[in-house]
Amino acid sequence: MNREEVLKIREDFPYLTMDKNIIYLDNGATTQKPIQVIEALENYYKFENGNPHRGAHYLAMVSTEAYEGAREYIAKFLGAESDEVVFVRNATEGLNLLAYSYGMEEIKEGDEILISIMEHHSNHVTWQEVAKRKNAKLNHLYLDEDMQIPWEEFTSKINENTKIFSITAASNVVGTMPDLPRMISYIRENYKDVKIFVDAAQYLPHQKINVKDLDCDALVFSGHKMVSPMGIGVLYGKRDFLNSLKPFMYGGDMIEYVYEDKSTYLMSPQRFEAGTQNVGGAVSLRYAIEYLENIGFDKIFEHEKNLTNYCYEKLKKLNYIDVYTTSNEHRSPVISFNFKDAHPHDVASIVDTKGVAIRSGHHCAQPLHRKLGCNFSCRASFAFYNTFEEVDKFVESLEYVKEVMGIES
Ligand code: ALA
Repeated sequence: MNREEVLKIREDFPYLTMDKNIIYLDNGATTQKPIQVIEALENYYKFENGNPHRGAHYLAMVSTEAYEGAREYIAKFLGAESDEVVFVRNATEGLNLLAYSYGMEEIKEGDEILISIMEHHSNHVTWQEVAKRKNAKLNHLYLDEDMQIPWEEFTSKINENTKIFSITAASNVVGTMPDLPRMISYIRENYKDVKIFVDAAQYLPHQKINVKDLDCDALVFSGHKMVSPMGIGVLYGKRDFLNSLKPFMYGGDMIEYVYEDKSTYLMSPQRFEAGTQNVGGAVSLRYAIEYLENIGFDKIFEHEKNLTNYCYEKLKKLNYIDVYTTSNEHRSPVISFNFKDAHPHDVASIVDTKGVAIRSGHHCAQPLHRKLGCNFSCRASFAFYNTFEEVDKFVESLEYVKEVMGIES
């Protein structure tokens, strides 16, 4: 995308337009929202608000159409069928559903669960808990110097005891995008019993995934990292897999028949959508994805990649910081770093005085940080609406931190 295209896109974002001085580089935490999505949410509540699947009146039917229309749209986006798309609050809830409905039911003593060391806590603690309660083993894939998973590391850790392989499609700290197609093909050829789950929360805001081509059993993502409101996300699962699972939550709208002493349950997706759902959220997510598709995921990723490379080259030249991102250009647009002599919270607070918003902390990835030799880091994460000028100003703000903190180069 050229500069004019990006500036035009920025006009869709009220916050970026209202406050022209903000340099928002915390997109990995959550993105800003375009007016088209904000209006979609408002319109839903103004004109279509009813409780779907309940009642025969006009608004109940209109809201059912809006909700199921959103599901159908998102299913097409993923290359899935509608009944394979379950609405959840976020990727974390999707992973917990998999951990409770599959992990806690099917994992047995001696089984192994394989994840990587760069997982977000939501794809780490969940499986740690399953492994602990079921006397199973949790294995980790470790990274090489360039933050990649060596192929031999993968082939040596997956084995006939592995029952679950749950992996991020893109690290929220070091940007690594593992070669999932190659890994999944290898598992399908060699180990028939492994269930494969993908955490796409940090990948789908930047690049599309066709779940049938990828051949994962389930995949999760959060809407709020891809210009939709918070509180809505998706669990995709293969139809037979989802219908083989026990429900995760029990209550209204997920049952078939209820007697005093027993009940039967609907098939997916209703089986997993107990209680009144976030219909406005689902509708907004549909329009958020449409918004991104209208720009084009190829253009989005290309621009974000250029920004990330530009920033990476500049940061590498600063001898007073350590950069923790992979050099592989096929990476998600995040760069984590530390000042050699300043705490990340100090750095984030000082750059904030220059209007630059970055994240500081462990980014819900403590085990990875320990492996990096630090407990915390700063992280700049880019979106398609960021500009090269913003990268320049961000780097200038780091020079300012150096001055304020009296750090010598
Ligand atoms: N998981 C989000 C992040 O990486 C909040 O910042």
